[in-house]
Amino acid sequence: MPATISTAPGKTILFGEHAVVYGQPAIAIPVNERRAKVKIFPVIGVFSEKIQFIAPQIQLDKEYKELIPSHPFKIAMDEVKKYLNIPQYPSCKIFLSSTIPISSGLGSSAAISVALIKGLFEFIGFQPTKSILSQLAYQIEIEFHGHPSGIDNSVIAFNQPILFQKKKDIELIEPGEEFVIVIADSGIIGNTKIAVAGVRERWLKNRIGYEAYFNKIGELVIQAKKEIELGNHSEVGRLMNSNQEFLQRIGVSHPSLENLIKIAIKNGALGSKLSGGGLGGNIIALTRLEKADYLSQELLKNGAAQTIIMTLKKEIENE
Ligand code: MEV
Repeated sequence: MPATISTAPGKTILFGEHAVVYGQPAIAIPVNERRAKVKIFPVIGVFSEKIQFIAPQIQLDKEYKELIPSHPFKIAMDEVKKYLNIPQYPSCKIFLSSTIPISSGLGSSAAISVALIKGLFEFIGFQPTKSILSQLAYQIEIEFHGHPSGIDNSVIAFNQPILFQKKKDIELIEPGEEFVIVIADSGIIGNTKIAVAGVRERWLKNRIGYEAYFNKIGELVIQAKKEIELGNHSEVGRLMNSNQEFLQRIGVSHPSLENLIKIAIKNGALGSKLSGGGLGGNIIALTRLEKADYLSQELLKNGAAQTIIMTLKKEIENE
């Protein structure tokens, strides 16, 4: 049984976060510039199921059997075991690491789940389909996010730009041109579960108003898909700004995010918005390749804790 190495990208949501939880479409893209990585090494000669998890970044060095039932690694192991219908795993050591910042809206938890599930399949000698990967990772997202739409596990498992809508097949998006995006971390921890719960509370108090916002967001997502496919940078930027206005109205923005968005626009971004759950975490700013470094520097000078410059490529990458 050979050792395996599996990886999964981070993600960012270009359009439609939160409204997607209420059935509207949303657009997400993988961030291959940051990745989660899982290495599994067999331990020869130990016949009882002895599995050691080693994740130095979160100070974890524990046996599978010691993990609490709601631990994401335990859920991943149990889901794969159930799916493959195996009584136990061969003894092994599992090393987990990631370059995706935690709690910043870049899908760090879904990426580690996808990489771990993929690694376990390969370790046992199977190749999971992308939709099985996504489906199993979704079980872990439920534990962590309360009411997740499924967009994070989908974009990370498929590793392609997607239009996602609950209960519908995923549509792959092929950008008509390259898009350069600067992702800037506000340094404020954004808790998606809390942000989603807050929107739910306000929606329960004002269904008509919130549903009108969600419908508007849904409409601009459909428009954005067309403009991405046409490679129309300025229109995509304009739509990002409109999406941000609705995100403010539903109460998921934050002064630190507003500040970074203002800096981005002042320094020539074609559009900017928060990305993911909000209340902290990241903003994204659409820019031109030649201006990306400058914009990134300005964001860092004006409060961003860190930045990532990423390119959404024209052709779909097939892993
Ligand atoms: C989180 O990346 C995006 C949200 O829309 C929540 C979800 O879709 O599960 C805020």
